[in-house]
Amino acid sequence: MTSTLQEHPVLVLDFGAQYAQLIARRVREADVYSEVVPHDTPAEEILAREPAALVLSGGPASVYSEGAPRLDPALLQAGVPVLGICYGFQAMAAALGGDVAHTGQREYGETKARIGDTDCTLFHGQPEEQPVWMSHGDSVSRAPDGMAVTATTPGAEVAAFEDNERRLYGVQWHPEVLHSAFGQRVIENFLRRGAGLAPTWTRGQIVEELVEQVREQVGDAHVICGLSGGVDSSVAAALVNRAVGDQLTCVFVDHGLLREGEARQVEEDFVAATGVDLVVVDAQERFLSALAGVSDPEQKRKIIGREFIRVFEQAARDVAGTADAEGHPVKFLVQGTLYPDVVESGGGTGAANIKSHHNVGGLPEDLQFTLIEPLRALFKDEVRQVGLELGVPEGIVWRQPFPGPGLAIRVVGAVDAERLAVLRRADGIAREELTRAGLDREIWQCPVVLLADVRSVGVQGDGRTYGHPVVLRPVSSEDAMTADWTRVPYDVLARISGRITNEVPEVNRVVLDVTSKPPGTIEWE
Ligand code: XMP
Repeated sequence: MTSTLQEHPVLVLDFGAQYAQLIARRVREADVYSEVVPHDTPAEEILAREPAALVLSGGPASVYSEGAPRLDPALLQAGVPVLGICYGFQAMAAALGGDVAHTGQREYGETKARIGDTDCTLFHGQPEEQPVWMSHGDSVSRAPDGMAVTATTPGAEVAAFEDNERRLYGVQWHPEVLHSAFGQRVIENFLRRGAGLAPTWTRGQIVEELVEQVREQVGDAHVICGLSGGVDSSVAAALVNRAVGDQLTCVFVDHGLLREGEARQVEEDFVAATGVDLVVVDAQERFLSALAGVSDPEQKRKIIGREFIRVFEQAARDVAGTADAEGHPVKFLVQGTLYPDVVESGGGTGAANIKSHHNVGGLPEDLQFTLIEPLRALFKDEVRQVGLELGVPEGIVWRQPFPGPGLAIRVVGAVDAERLAVLRRADGIAREELTRAGLDREIWQCPVVLLADVRSVGVQGDGRTYGHPVVLRPVSSEDAMTADWTRVPYDVLARISGRITNEVPEVNRVVLDVTSKPPGTIEWE
């Protein structure tokens, strides 16, 4: 497959901390394509990919301890520019003949780095003193020969070094985290000044390249795509549509568990913006009757998954029938797999498993499509950029993550049309006010949960009421694996609470969930 932008990637060697993906993202934010590879990938294999540069990530180990991930010195001798970060920095120092020691001076969290040379490669154009994020027990106590020490911190005499001759660079702190105020500039300096890389991974170029790849893969076959209304499937569909136009048919199963306005967003706005051929299946009644009386969340998920497959399968058969008549066999099923899914499931190429919670798993044997995963190389923020480039409506591009089983798992208790309507209104108000307060980018997602089986006493108007509570669950997160509750300003919370209890008579109490994840999950069910 042609892949000019991805041909000479910046490879991030993952030494076992949670930072490798973040580093790859930051490299891409500097408009250079980057991938994560496990640290035990043989050096020949890494070098065979002709990487434009290497970044050695941080990691929890101590370089001299038994079983610590090793850095093959061959990687430092291949003439490829290298940036070592934290553990990677220490591993580099040790491999090049410097010393790493338990100095007893641990540094965790924010500290100040003093830059010795603001003309050097990594710190060019940056202030002499900068806040940086540290997390280390060991320190480099002597830099390897030929390395110029370019920064110090209170706990590390050698906090950064570089050798422009060999194009080897290192920093003790974490430039990839936002607490390191000039971190992104450090990464950019490494890429541009150290490695001489031009900014090529831009959204226009990415679209061009992915479109080309889809065309090559699809040929003149027909493609089907299940649209959920979410960012990933919408952008994937828009991309395939840009590539092969009317060879694509999208299927939107309206299970009636979406939020206010979301079905319309797909059926009207998305279609108008992209011109995709869309089949809408109205299955609201079917899902509601299958869910009637069920309050166990896993049971709900199972039922929704099962019904979804049945409905989608029928729609796919119908589409397959039509497409056959046009002479194009339906051969491909679009899936919005993203790069973090690929890395987390062991990486590599090869077909990814269909994500079970995407609810498209388990199609019957005779409907086995080849998966087409046009977003496989992208991070979420890149998917959004690509979506904007393709003209996908902003309301969809910036939509917060929303679970496949939808509002069904946000009604604690059995789901019925009335409860869904109550939740939809409360949720609509919360979303509107959070957006109005400009908090959409700060909040990863904000489930609104209806405690349908709980009632509490209240006074509304001139009478006592016996209504339901709703829970607001605003969280901030990078990837939903961990999350913290968002400190939404009190006046915004007050407006949401006031409006919900005024405008949704069934709700007489609004409560705020102030639990981080872990221990609390983001969704309540
Ligand atoms: P939790 O609740 O596990 O959620 O902290 C993490 C992320 O996953 C979403 N989520 C789901 N998405 N099907 C989905 O497609 C599901 O069954 C499901 N459960 C949780 C949740 O919204 C959050 O973004």
